[in-house]
Amino acid sequence: MTLILVTDRDGTPHNLDAGDGDSLMVALRDAGLSVEGICGGNLSCGTCHIHVQNATQGQLPPVSADEAALLADLPDVVPQSRLSCQIPVTPALAGLAIVVAPD
Ligand code: FES
Repeated sequence: MTLILVTDRDGTPHNLDAGDGDSLMVALRDAGLSVEGICGGNLSCGTCHIHVQNATQGQLPPVSADEAALLADLPDVVPQSRLSCQIPVTPALAGLAIVVAPD
């Protein structure tokens, strides 16, 4: 399990114990933190949008062209936007802080 700091859409902070090997989307969805992940991680819905607060260089996988293309169509995109379905949970994410993007 990897501890990730999550702020939900109401601004409430949570300590999320995410299962290694899942995607971050699955961990957020299963914890009931307002991430729907409707497409199951197939890069077609954007309902797993998060804003990353504190990633260090190399901590997250790079943004693929397909992820960037979908992000470009979403509202409330910021430079720190990611699709959580594209981020595998590994121990390297320990201490990561994210905010669930607005609906
Ligand atoms: S779950 Fe649909 S784009 Fe991430």
